[in-house]
Amino acid sequence: MSVINIGLCGLGTVGTGVLKILENHKEEIKHKLGSDIIVNKILVNDIHKPRNEEIDPDKLTTDAEELVSNPDVDVIVELMGGIDDTNLLLEKALRNKKHIVTANKDLMAVHGQKLLQTAKENKCDIFYEASVAGGIPILRTLTDGLASDRIRKIMGIVNGTTNYILTKMTDEQLAFEPVLKEAQELGFAEADPTSDVDGLDAARKMTILANLAFKMEFSLDDVEVTGIRDITQEDISFAENLGYTIKLIGITAIHNGKVELSVEPVLLPTEHPLAQVKNEYNAVYVDGEAVGETMFYGPGAGSLPTATAVVSDLMEVVKNIRLGISGNAHVGPQFETQLKENHEKHMKYFLRMEADDQAGTFQAITNIFTDEKVSFAKILQLPGSEKGTAEIVMITHKISKQQLVNSLEQLKNLAVVNRMISYYRVDGEE
Ligand code: NAP
Ligand code: HSE
Repeated sequence: MSVINIGLCGLGTVGTGVLKILENHKEEIKHKLGSDIIVNKILVNDIHKPRNEEIDPDKLTTDAEELVSNPDVDVIVELMGGIDDTNLLLEKALRNKKHIVTANKDLMAVHGQKLLQTAKENKCDIFYEASVAGGIPILRTLTDGLASDRIRKIMGIVNGTTNYILTKMTDEQLAFEPVLKEAQELGFAEADPTSDVDGLDAARKMTILANLAFKMEFSLDDVEVTGIRDITQEDISFAENLGYTIKLIGITAIHNGKVELSVEPVLLPTEHPLAQVKNEYNAVYVDGEAVGETMFYGPGAGSLPTATAVVSDLMEVVKNIRLGISGNAHVGPQFETQLKENHEKHMKYFLRMEADDQAGTFQAITNIFTDEKVSFAKILQLPGSEKGTAEIVMITHKISKQQLVNSLEQLKNLAVVNRMISYYRVDGEE
């Protein structure tokens, strides 16, 4: 029976979950691997911090060298977060022939391709399943389960915090700020929740998914990102009245070799499976050319769900060590990265504007849309919030993003339109 030694960087929410799974599932893990997994050293910020778990104090250190340059450590399990410093640490660990498991999407979205390359050069594995959608094995689904297929589209609820906030705003009509505070207290919001709320966390995860799905190399700059900060109760209630639910959705799709990649609030038909995903749960819809539509659902964050993905990655590393095939799992990009231009992105839109309630207003507005060849599926007019104004809500048929941009530009200059209140993508229906 061999022994694999790990150096654990981070003993917070996920790190303590990993210790629990290694301890509680020890016998099953040993049976499946034929190896024991021993935690050799644990890197933390503060060794004197009181901790709930009983930890051998000799294992705790604040010196990363005791892990990355330790000849007794076989695998580094990185669960401390951070981008550039953590990258340097992991690059060094790889050059010292340590395999890596990480849950760090911030790191993988920025330095992932280079780290994967360094790992290959050093015949080491690097796995990062927990970085996207926590406990849902979505990366392995793309690399293994659907390896034989061509992915056409992925739509995902990949941020638990924003899904929690939108669920509470929709189902209980609660206000944004107190619900965000609740999500922080429940432990799934990031230390700085702006990356959740403004869509950056989801954008990092979508970059990782798009790289794997389309075998290109995308960077964060390639993602068009809009967060949920500006969504109001009125938007939610108009959407509901028209049969839609608003969700923060990461979307990536390919057509003729060109890819679109975005994170934005989207109106989904209320009966769409992604619209049914509540609270902090995540779900990823994958459409493949041969397999058709599939959907993966589960907890996207939290100690044990995320730790499950981490320990399963660790077991994969150990299996590869035993089989002598480490460093072969990563397949680099196959195609040149090509992004769609605005005129190549086609979708429906929900538009809300406030206009003067007078004869000719509607005609002036529809003239603009007629010029841009935009037609409508639904139109609603209601009294506006100010006397003498009307609120107009429209859902377009499929148009290009360029048609939308042109129409918005012209509406801005139209005297009878007081303001464009909001506009959102509509997806998930023909
Ligand atoms: P956390 O609770 O804040 O824990 C971070 C741990 O890392 C702590 O033990 C901290 O030490 C240690 N640490 C932080 N910076 C360090 C540094 N510079 N040097 C040494 N130790 C350091 O974080 P977490 O929620 O477990 O998240 C860990 C990683 O998993 C992050 O990359 C996160 O994005 C990712 N992730 C988290 C979840 C989730 O549900 N929480 C889900 C998916 C992915 P002290 O204990 O001494 O403070
Ligand atoms: N803050 C993240 C979320 C944690 O809310 O989904 C999991 O990556």
